[in-house]
Amino acid sequence: MVANAMMLLVALAIVLILLLKVVYKIIWVPLKVQHVLKKQGINGPGYSPILNNTAKIRRLMIAEAESKSSCFTHNYETVVSRVMPHYYNWSTIYGKNFLYWFGPKPRVAIADPNLIKEILLNTTSFEKIKHNPLSKLLLGDGLVGLDGHKWAIHRRISNHAFKMEIVKGWISEMVDSTTKLLDKWEDVTSARDQFEMDVHKEFHKLSADIISRTAFGSSFEEGKRIFELQDQQVSLVLEAIRSVYIPGFRFLPTKKNRLRKRLEKETGDAIRMLLNNCSRTANNSKSLLSLLMHPIKNQDDKQETLDIEEVVDECKTFHFAGKETTANFLTWAFLLLALHQEWQSKAREEVVRACRNGIPTAENIADLKIVSMILNETLRLYPPAVMLMRQASKNVKLGNLDIPVNTQFYLAMNAVHHDKEIWGDDAHEFNPLRFAESRKHLASFFPFGLGPRICVGQNLALVEAKVVLSMIIQQYSFCISPSYVHAPTQAMTLQPQYGAQILFSKIS
Ligand code: HEM
Repeated sequence: MVANAMMLLVALAIVLILLLKVVYKIIWVPLKVQHVLKKQGINGPGYSPILNNTAKIRRLMIAEAESKSSCFTHNYETVVSRVMPHYYNWSTIYGKNFLYWFGPKPRVAIADPNLIKEILLNTTSFEKIKHNPLSKLLLGDGLVGLDGHKWAIHRRISNHAFKMEIVKGWISEMVDSTTKLLDKWEDVTSARDQFEMDVHKEFHKLSADIISRTAFGSSFEEGKRIFELQDQQVSLVLEAIRSVYIPGFRFLPTKKNRLRKRLEKETGDAIRMLLNNCSRTANNSKSLLSLLMHPIKNQDDKQETLDIEEVVDECKTFHFAGKETTANFLTWAFLLLALHQEWQSKAREEVVRACRNGIPTAENIADLKIVSMILNETLRLYPPAVMLMRQASKNVKLGNLDIPVNTQFYLAMNAVHHDKEIWGDDAHEFNPLRFAESRKHLASFFPFGLGPRICVGQNLALVEAKVVLSMIIQQYSFCISPSYVHAPTQAMTLQPQYGAQILFSKIS
C-alpha cells in the first residue's frame, strides 16, 4: 500500500517536473525575452504559446501568393509586401526593427544596415541557424549548413575552386551552353519575326547546364536526373521550413518522409556516379569537382582535403545554389531590360563594342561596365536571397541593445534594398547609374551576404550572367509580353510566380 503510494508520488513528481520544464520553456523564457527587448524599444506582435505568429505568417504568405499583381513596378509596397508580407505588415506597425515569434523562438527582424553589418561580420556571436534537419536532405552537409573547423576547411577548398581566374576558365563552357540555347530558339521559332519565351524556364535549364558542365564536365542531359530529384526535394523542403519543426517527426514513416529519404538517396547515388565518370576522364582537371577533390595547403602548410562523401554533399549544395539563384538572377535582369528599353540599348551598344567577334571572353567581359551596373541594380531590386537568418550564440551586445542568447535575426535584405532613406526618393526606380560609384555602406547592398559567410559562388554567378546576357542581347531585342503578370514571390529564392514571358525579335 505504502509502496504504491510512493510510486504514485514519484510519478506525480516526474509529471510535475516535466510540466514545469514545458512551462519554463514555452511560457517563462519567451515572456522574459519579450520583456527584456520591449524595455529596449523592440516591440512587435505579442507572444502567445498557442496562437503564435507562425500561423499568421503562413496565412499572409498564402494570401499574397493568391493575389495577382499586374502593374510592373518595383516600389517597396509592391515588392516587399508580396515577398515578405509579414515583415511588411508588422514593420508598418512596429517600425523597421521589431520582435516576432517563430513558435517559442524569438525573432528580431532588422532592416538597419549598421546592425546588419555588425551581425554578419561577427560570426562568433551571431551564428547561422542550424538547418531544419529536413532541409539537410536537399543541401547535405555542405558549406551552407556547416560551421566551425569543418566549415573552415570546406570554405578554403571552395574559395580556391571559385577563384576569379578559375571561373574565367569556364567561360568557354558558358558560351557553349548559351550557343546551344540560342540554336534551340532559332529552331523552334525560325519563321517568325517575333516570338514569346518564358525565360524563367529557359534560364533554369541553361544555368543547370552551365553548372553541370563547370562542376562535372558533363552536360544538362547527364546532370538532369539530379536536378529533377532536387526539384522534387525543394517542394518538400519548402513545406518543411515554413512549419515549426517537431523533433523526431522526420523519423516517422509518413508518405512524405519516405519520399524525402528516397530522393536524398537517389540524388547521392546519381552524384556518386558522375564523380566516378569524372575521375575516369582525364580532361576534367579544371572542373569544380576535380578542384574539390584536389588537396590544398593551409596557412600552416598542412594539406587539407575532402573525402568522397563531403564532395557529394558540396555537389548537392552547388547544384542547388548554382542553379536556383543564378537562373532567377538572369530572369529578373531580362525582365528589367525588357521593361527599360533605354538600358537595353545601352547594354547592347556596350556589348557590341566590347565583344568584337560577338563572343564574350575572359578579357572582354571586364569591359562590360554598363552591364555590371545593370546587374547590380537587378540584384538590388530583386535579390534572389531576400533575407538572411542568424542566431545569437550567447548574450551579446548589438549596437545599444542587449540581446539574450538564442534570439534569432531576420535580416530583411529586400526591405533594405528598397529603403528610401538609404537609396533616395527614386529607390523604386530602375536606375543602374546609382552603381556608377562603389557604395559607401557595406550593408545597404548585400545580395551575396557579407563577412566570412559571403557567397562563395558570386564570381561564377556574375560572370555567367554577363556571358549569357551579352550573347542574347546581341542577337535579339526584347520587350515584356502582354501575358506577363508581375508577381514576385519567394519560394526558396525570389522568382516571378507566373513565369517571365518576354517577346523576342531577331536583330538582323
Ligand atoms: C545571383 C546568384 C547568387 C546569389 C544572389 C547568392 C546569394 C548568396 C547569399 C546571400 C549567401 C549568404 C548566405 C548567408 O550569409 O546566410 C550565399 C552563400 C552561399 N552561396 Fe550563393 N548566391 C548566388 C550564387 C551562388 C552560386 C552560383 C553558388 C555555387 C555554385 C553559390 C553557393 C553558395 C554557397 C555554398 C554559400 C554558403 C557559403 C558559406 O556559408 O560559407 N551561390 N549565397
